[in-house]
Amino acid sequence: SGQRTFTMIKPDAVQKGYTGAILNQITEAGFRIVAMKQTQMTTEDAQTFYAIHKERPFFGELVDYMTGGPIVAAILEKDNAVEDFRALIGATNPEDAAEGTIRKKYAESISANAIHGSDSDDNAQIESSFHFSGREMF
Ligand code: CMP
Repeated sequence: SGQRTFTMIKPDAVQKGYTGAILNQITEAGFRIVAMKQTQMTTEDAQTFYAIHKERPFFGELVDYMTGGPIVAAILEKDNAVEDFRALIGATNPEDAAEGTIRKKYAESISANAIHGSDSDDNAQIESSFHFSGREMF
């Protein structure tokens, strides 16, 4: 039981074959998989998902990158899930990420940064329902 968060293993990490290692690190850290699928976002999906960033200079690059290949989307459950998951993945820029974090181990750059984690309970809910229906959550 506990709180839920939403994650995506991003196209760079999926393409390099890191899905299994990353999921193992997530489950070893105590997160339960509530929902999971491999999928590819359309341009419209990515523009909607990242609408909060639409005025940022990197928006076009972000949309192109996130639609460039398959992702693995998942809902995760654990006590204090949002905060603990952000600690597990590390800083947005892998150069600033702590040793042992998923981004330190698997990310290439601030844009191709291997994995997403929701930044709040509200966003976890919004992002989860963007990708999953109730019938896909267990
Ligand atoms: P995330 O925090 O999961 O969601 C927003 C994404 O925008 C972020 O991961 C990065 O992939 C990307 N991003 C954030 N800052 C920059 C930046 N300065 N340049 C390029 N991409 C960025």
